[in-house]
Amino acid sequence: MTLSKKMINAQMMDCNADLFRCPVCLSEMTMVDKSRLVCMTNHSFDLSKNGYVNLAPQAHVTKYDQSLFEARKTVMTSGFFDGVLEALVSTVETHAHAVILDAGCGEGSHLSTIVERLTGDVTGVGIDLSKEGITAAAKEYPGLIWSVADLANCPFQNDKFDAILNVLSPANYGEFTRLLKPGGLFVKAVPESGYLKELRAIFYEDKGQKDDADPVARVAEHFDAVSTERVTYTFPLAEGLLAPLIQMTPLTWGASADKIEEALQMAISEITIDFTIISGVNREGTGQCLVE
Ligand SMILES: C[S@@+](CC[C@H](N)C(=O)[O-])C[C@H]1O[C@@H](n2cnc3c(N)ncnc32)[C@H](O)[C@@H]1O
Ligand SMILES: [Zn+2]
Repeated sequence: MTLSKKMINAQMMDCNADLFRCPVCLSEMTMVDKSRLVCMTNHSFDLSKNGYVNLAPQAHVTKYDQSLFEARKTVMTSGFFDGVLEALVSTVETHAHAVILDAGCGEGSHLSTIVERLTGDVTGVGIDLSKEGITAAAKEYPGLIWSVADLANCPFQNDKFDAILNVLSPANYGEFTRLLKPGGLFVKAVPESGYLKELRAIFYEDKGQKDDADPVARVAEHFDAVSTERVTYTFPLAEGLLAPLIQMTPLTWGASADKIEEALQMAISEITIDFTIISGVNREGTGQCLVE
């Protein structure tokens, strides 16, 4: 008998229910009937029909909608992001990586690829505040744990994760140090000035996606043994990829229809990918660190 995607995801969640803590009262959670997570004081969260659980205290409408995530998936799985993924995999595989959290995972393709490429038995957990992103992830990549959740108020117990990934997403260092085991690895991918520079040239904007001016210094405030790797390359844009590329990026938010049409007419043949991968090791005894 073939298991439904929901059942596959529910089984993963059931086996790893000890990771969770109630987003309302912070107590432990168990899985009941492979269909809901329930805490010690009876707050109950049903699995969706695709097998993710919504643990965000309230509904959030974000600009990251279904069409953006479809475009993101098309671009991200075209090979465009392979150089960054390779760097992430080789950074993570030097460390223990049995349980990995992707904080701000979007449509889930990075986490799925990374878990696939890592050696050993790896449990991947992806959270994002966007319900559309997590719905896409749970549908497309069964066998991982997917949850709508706020990375500033993570619904997980202290000291449970061997590694946390944070790719193109905001960070919450109080939460990340709380969740990581002592010695666990934090890995952040931040865009540099060359990232999508061909699009920036058209949209004349400098909407960097960094959540702070000096992310290396920020990581070093919270983690030991910080190291960085710059990953820069150009990717040939196959026909049909420019439209989803324009659609997937916050760079074009607010651009007029005319501007987008103008960009679509440009014969951009290759696009630049430029990231710094920052990693750091969690200190001992940081489990009670306050959320910033
Ligand atoms: C630029 S996207 C990156 C998504 C994915 N990591 C990728 O590289 O394709 C930023 C993501 O951060 C998510 N995000 C923003 N604030 C968040 C929060 N407080 N908690 C969880 N996710 C958040 C957004 O919903 C969005 O999916
Ligand atoms: Zn509770």
